[in-house]
Amino acid sequence: MAENFRVLLSDTLAPQGIEVLKRYPQLNFDIKTGLKPAELAAIIGDYDALLIRSGTKVTKEVIEHATRLRVIGRAGVGVDNVDIPPATRRGIVVMNSPLGNSVTTAEHAISMMMAMARHIPAANASIHAGKWERTKFTGAEICNKTLGVVGLGNIGRIVADRALGLKMKVIGYDPILTAEAAARLGIELVALPELFARADFITVHTPLTDDTRGLINAAAFAKMKKGVRVINCARGGIVDEHALADAIVSGKVAGAALDVFVEEPPPRDHPLLALDAVIATPHLGAATDEAQVQVSVDIAQQVADFLIDGTIRNAVNIPAVTPKELEILGPHLTLAEKLGRLAAQLIAGAPTSVAVSFGGEAANLKPDAITAAVLKGLMSGYLDEELNAVNAPYLAAERGIKVSETRSREVTDFINTLSVVVRTALGEYEVAGAVLGNRAMRLTRIDGYRVEAVPEGYFLMLHNRDVPGVVGAVGTLLGEAGINIAGLELGRDRVGGTALSLIEVDGAVPPAVLEKLKTVSAITSATLLKL
Ligand code: NAD
Ligand code: MLT
Repeated sequence: MAENFRVLLSDTLAPQGIEVLKRYPQLNFDIKTGLKPAELAAIIGDYDALLIRSGTKVTKEVIEHATRLRVIGRAGVGVDNVDIPPATRRGIVVMNSPLGNSVTTAEHAISMMMAMARHIPAANASIHAGKWERTKFTGAEICNKTLGVVGLGNIGRIVADRALGLKMKVIGYDPILTAEAAARLGIELVALPELFARADFITVHTPLTDDTRGLINAAAFAKMKKGVRVINCARGGIVDEHALADAIVSGKVAGAALDVFVEEPPPRDHPLLALDAVIATPHLGAATDEAQVQVSVDIAQQVADFLIDGTIRNAVNIPAVTPKELEILGPHLTLAEKLGRLAAQLIAGAPTSVAVSFGGEAANLKPDAITAAVLKGLMSGYLDEELNAVNAPYLAAERGIKVSETRSREVTDFINTLSVVVRTALGEYEVAGAVLGNRAMRLTRIDGYRVEAVPEGYFLMLHNRDVPGVVGAVGTLLGEAGINIAGLELGRDRVGGTALSLIEVDGAVPPAVLEKLKTVSAITSATLLKL
């Protein structure tokens, strides 16, 4: 029977998104809006998915109660109303719908720039008040002026494109864009101080992060031209509100157009709202019918696809994986988890680093999901919580485990290989395996010894001197204990040197039998492994 999922919509979404949910009989949804975090926390334990806009605050407290929640879907871009680290820690996928409102928001930024340049809000208020003030509202032309765009992502690029159409000169700054890519968009990429110094208008389109909070502060205003105008349709706080008020009062800044505030709604006595040079809208950047329909449809479809077939799109805390990719990755993920689980049974001491190497065809696979599966296998036995691809890397980082990945396309004995080296304060442990064909898997290496075993079930792993009689003695001891041997794999460093025996057994070997095995003179260690 198909699995059923409970979905909670805790903000108002456009009805077209709700229609998307209705197409899936497996999805049962409730709409409960206006909940305070404590109220949401009280009911969230019943749901597999939560759909929100900006109104719902998904706090740490809410997440602590979200015992079956698998996905949070944000209709819109900003996920600053979701406490992402606790969600990631719990293995909850957080996704947004990043494109549905980009054009609308860019159009708002352009509208705000033009409204500010031509004093339209004040002129409109004046004429509504019965006045006819033609000289008071003389504005500034934008043609041939320089627009500085800070943040050239989805919205910043559209703003730049529209501004170029208005015959502005566009300069921009974005830490992850190359000058060549910017030039192809008609934008001159410059360093931030140069942008501050040259721009007549400055518009910000970055997320609010620890790096961007206060990005436009008193020091930035000091570098700007007298008479500069500033637009913020991104997030309150990117432009320091007090520094902006001071810069307007001092005459440095001629105008500011703000759609967003640190506190929303801003307090009545907010210093910026007392200034004529400030025009403002109540966070209307994404508020068009078209954008609301689009973000609602996008996020409803993304959440439905994730719940029903595992597709991950636009997640902010895990890389995207399509069902087709999942089909190819499947056996590699299983092998990776098994190698992690095997390593966990070999190591002494806490892991300090994990190095995952992808060889042959495996070098072409998406590494993140496979590494996450290794970490899941490695840590699952230790932790009293369910691990998945979302929280395993997070929990590893939280424990100070350094994770690295290397790839080599060179083909060795197998067409693709995956090797995992775990370091602890007490040693270094290596395990490797391969996926053969579509599904079959082999364990190919343990601690430098070549082996070839199907990684499934119980194995007795012995380290012994390579002398005659060991296999016979082990067979006798296991036979006496009623344990059947299903397979035997011997790896040795050289004839007469040390050997690793991997004995596949039909069930668990009791500790007393392991102790007896250790009394065989050639055996130096006996460990039971379960894969
Ligand atoms: P995006 O992720 O596509 O782009 C953000 C860009 O900012 C990226 O290119 C990134 O490299 C850049 N950036 C990050 N740190 C930077 C820094 N220190 N300096 C300069 N650039 C930096 O996001 P987007 O969809 O373009 O959205 C931009 C902002 O607009 C977000 O804050 C989003 O929440 C906000 N937004 C507001 C509204 C609204 O209603 N007012 C609507 C939609 C989006
Ligand atoms: C967004 O981040 O998408 C916008 O701020 C619009 C909204 O909050 O809904």
